[in-house]
Amino acid sequence: MIVLPTLVFLAYLVTGRQINSIANAKQTYDTRKLNYKAEFAPIEDQLNHTMMIDYINNLNTSWKAGYNFHPNISKYELKSLMGVNPDYRRHLQLPKQHSILSTNSTMPAEFDSCQAWPECQELISMIHDTGLCGSDWAVATASAFSDRLCIASKGTIVRNLSAEDLSCCHFCGHKCEGGSPELAWRYLMTDGIVTGGSYQSKEGCKPYTIYPIRGYGQLPPQNIMGYMSAGICERKCQEEYAKDLLSDLYYAECIYSLRRNTHMRDIYNNGPVIATVKVYEDFMYYRSGIYQYTTGEQLGGHAVKIIGWGVENGVKYWLCVNSWGSSWGENGFFKIKRGNNECGIEERFNAGIPKV
Ligand SMILES: *[C@@H]1O[C@H](CO)[C@@H](O)[C@H](O)[C@H]1NC(C)=O
Ligand SMILES: *[C@@H]1O[C@H](CO)[C@@H](O)[C@H](O)[C@H]1NC(C)=O
Ligand SMILES: *[C@@H]1O[C@H](CO)[C@@H](O)[C@H](O)[C@H]1NC(C)=O
Ligand SMILES: *[C@@H]1O[C@H](CO)[C@@H](O)[C@H](O)[C@H]1NC(C)=O
Ligand SMILES: *[C@@H]1O[C@H](CO)[C@@H](O)[C@H](O)[C@H]1NC(C)=O
Repeated sequence: MIVLPTLVFLAYLVTGRQINSIANAKQTYDTRKLNYKAEFAPIEDQLNHTMMIDYINNLNTSWKAGYNFHPNISKYELKSLMGVNPDYRRHLQLPKQHSILSTNSTMPAEFDSCQAWPECQELISMIHDTGLCGSDWAVATASAFSDRLCIASKGTIVRNLSAEDLSCCHFCGHKCEGGSPELAWRYLMTDGIVTGGSYQSKEGCKPYTIYPIRGYGQLPPQNIMGYMSAGICERKCQEEYAKDLLSDLYYAECIYSLRRNTHMRDIYNNGPVIATVKVYEDFMYYRSGIYQYTTGEQLGGHAVKIIGWGVENGVKYWLCVNSWGSSWGENGFFKIKRGNNECGIEERFNAGIPKV
C-alpha cells in the first residue's frame, strides 16, 4: 500500500529532519528514485482542479482562482514545494531587531521596493523557479539578500546570489526536502553566499541546478521530483566561472527577526524581507487579487519574499514575490491580506543587513 510510506515520508518532509552525512543523503536519494513509481504514482492522489477553481471563484472573494500547474500534478508533488516547517516554535528564532527602528511614525499607505530602489528593480522583481523542490527557504532568502546587497551598496553590487549554494547549508535543512529561513540567514552571516544565476544560465559561481516548474500547460519535468535531481553539495564554483569560491563570497553583517510594529519600517529602510506562510490547497490556484484563505487542507509552510504593501478596494495587503516561476499567480507575484496575520504570514518576518 502506498499510504503508509507516503505518510511517513511527509512527516519527514514537514519536520525537515536533517540528514547528517553525504553518504546517507546519497543512499536516500537512490532509494527514493527507485521507489518513485511505486510509491508516488499520482493516480491515487489526483486533484479535482475544476471543482476547486469553480468553488473559489463563486465565493466572490478578494481574489480569483485558475490553473497554475500542470493538471496532472499530484497533491504529493504540490506538498513537495513547501520547504518550511510551519511550526516556528520548534525552530531557532533570530534575535528581535533592536527597538531603534521600531518607531511608529507614519508609513506611506503604499510601498513597493521596486519603485523605491529602481537601480535594484531587476533583482527585486526577478521571479525564481524552485522546480518541484522544497528549496523555497534557500531561494527566497538568497533572493532577498541579493536585493538587500544591491540596496545597501546603492546599486553598485547587482548580483544574483546562489540559492544552490545556500541550500548546501547542512545545519539549515536538507535542500529540496526543506529547511529553515532563520538558519539560512544565520548561514549568510557565518559562511557567506556566492553568486549564481537560474537553471542553465551558466551565470555566476553556482547556478541553480533544478529543472523549473514552468507552469500550467507543460509536462512536469521528468515526472520526477526535484530533490531527486539535486546533486551532492560541493563548495566550489562551476568550471566556467573565472573567480574562485572564496573571492566570490558575500556576508551578512547582522540578522534579525522583526516585531510586528517594525515590519513595514524595516522594508521601507532596508528592502525586502522573508516571511513564512502556511499554505492551504486554495493558494495553489491563486491567479490575481488579494489572497485570503477560503478552502482546503494545509499543505505545509512556504517561504516568500515581501517587497511592499498597499490597499486595494479597501483591503490592505502585502506585496509578495513567489518562487514558482512567472506563470504562477500574477506573473509570479501575489498579494495577501495584511493586518490579520493571514495564514500566519505576520509571525515570521526575518531579514539581515549585508556587509558592503
Ligand atoms: C470535478 O468536479 C467537477 C465539478 O464539481 C465535476 O463536474 C467533475 O465530474 C469532477 N471530476 C472528477 C474527475 O471527479
Ligand atoms: C461581489 O463582490 C462585490 C464587491 O464586494 C459586490 O459589489 C458584488 O455585488 C458581488 N457580487 C455577487 C454576485 O455577490
Ligand atoms: C494526465 O493524466 C491522464 C490520466 O491519468 C493521462 O491519460 C494523460 O496522458 C496525462 N496527461 C499528460 C499530459 O501527462
Ligand atoms: C508613537 O509612540 C509614542 C511613544 O511610544 C506615543 O506617545 C505616540 O502616541 C505614538 N504615536 C502614534 C501615532 O501611535
Ligand atoms: C539574474 O539572473 C537572471 C536569470 O539568469 C538574468 O536574466 C539576470 O540578468 C541576472 N541578473 C543579474 C543582475 O546578473
